[in-house]
Amino acid sequence: LRVAHVAVEMAPVAKVGGMGDVVTALARAVQDEGHQVTVIIPKYDCLDYAEIRELHQVNDYFWGGTQIKVWQAEVEGIETILLEPTNGTVWAGCIYGRNDDAARFGFFCGAALDYLNNRLPGEQRPHIVHAHDWQSAPIAFGDLSHGMRSAFTIHNLNFGAGLIGRAMSGASVCTTVSPTYAAEISGNPAIAPHMQKFYGIRNGIDNDIWDPATDRFLPETFSADSAERGKAAAKEALRQKMNLSSADVPLVAVVTRLTHQKGIHLIKHAAWRTLERGGQFVLLGSAPDPRVQGEFNALANELGRQYPDRARLWFAYNEPLSHLIYAGSDIFLVPSMFEPCGLTQLIAMRYGSVPCVRRTGGLADTVFDVDDDEARSEAAGLATNGFIFEGTDAGALDYALNRALSFYYTEREQWSDLVERIMRQDWSWAEPALDYLDLYYKALKP
Ligand code: ADP
Ligand code: GLC
Repeated sequence: LRVAHVAVEMAPVAKVGGMGDVVTALARAVQDEGHQVTVIIPKYDCLDYAEIRELHQVNDYFWGGTQIKVWQAEVEGIETILLEPTNGTVWAGCIYGRNDDAARFGFFCGAALDYLNNRLPGEQRPHIVHAHDWQSAPIAFGDLSHGMRSAFTIHNLNFGAGLIGRAMSGASVCTTVSPTYAAEISGNPAIAPHMQKFYGIRNGIDNDIWDPATDRFLPETFSADSAERGKAAAKEALRQKMNLSSADVPLVAVVTRLTHQKGIHLIKHAAWRTLERGGQFVLLGSAPDPRVQGEFNALANELGRQYPDRARLWFAYNEPLSHLIYAGSDIFLVPSMFEPCGLTQLIAMRYGSVPCVRRTGGLADTVFDVDDDEARSEAAGLATNGFIFEGTDAGALDYALNRALSFYYTEREQWSDLVERIMRQDWSWAEPALDYLDLYYKALKP
């Protein structure tokens, strides 16, 4: 099969959130199954060019009143096509955040459709064109010729629902990134008319990119067998970096974009609760909204005053630091208000940090409470692996966080068993990639 993804994010060269991780990792997983996969992205000026191999121009064509340069490169082992409209459309200094985002991505999609329909020799033309979220929705509702079929994936229905509804109509098959989120959004007017071709497939993580056994950002690499030593080394390195004291206490961590979706009020509450219970708290967060940033600055000051050596809030987007936090933390908090899938809880588990999450979307499909979810986890063929709460208030979060902290303080041997157990669970793309392949073949049936 030949598959082409058309996307506006791709990790690590153009990553904003999880969608970029998914595009790269799903492409790699399907390629590993023996198929030919290409990713088509805009050639932004703000790409991380250090992560791009063998970049060279292969072609150009005229579309939309301008010349479009076609570049080819390799990103994480995947053939990548970068389209560069020479009128500067995608040279905006950023991926998002300009008030013409919709127009810019619309233009990119138009250029990509023309490229797929008219600029490729037949033997290179994909069978399946896979589009992602509202940004590449025009691919799914645009006209693909030569029998090409489209797949469309919703990563977040909270943005661009109008465009997403049109893509749902046009696409041959549609997915979202977990079964529970699929059920949660099934009543939405953009989704409801298309249930017969709509599927929930949970995301995976790329086990080569996220691997504590080879991770160059850790002081010592480790696997499930050596978790105790490896995690202790990472915890110590993290504490030094964050200027925190060394003591035998649990370290609770958050790595996130600081937006409403991620449960901002619960993150703040969790910081206080962790410290009251004697633990340490580390947050790595990037806040697109200055008002939210202001609130967190105030929190950082207050925490710093009351608990100078036990809390650190780090405001940045920092990939290497995120690796150290996944490895060096004991408990990983994801108190999202909604979460289509969520990747951080999966990465945390791979690095032996026990997830403490709200039961919503993909979090509900991947985390099973050690006290409450025996039956659910057995049905899923998995062992229990974390702590869960249901509600959206502080009391609800306390229910899970208190149990996690108490478990850590009082059952250290069982805690170590839990850490080893979650590290051995398989959250790779191996299985979900096969589900996508099934859908691709379904889309190709006449
Ligand atoms: P979303 O896409 O909604 O932000 P996901 O959990 O699907 O949430 O994916 C988030 C991805 O972005 C993960 O790879 C996570 O490690 C990364 N990430 C989020 N915030 C930061 C940050 N401040 N610094 C580094 N990486 C981050
Ligand atoms: C979105 C969602 C997140 C999901 C990611 C990748 O950003 O917020 O839950 O994991 O896309 O699909």
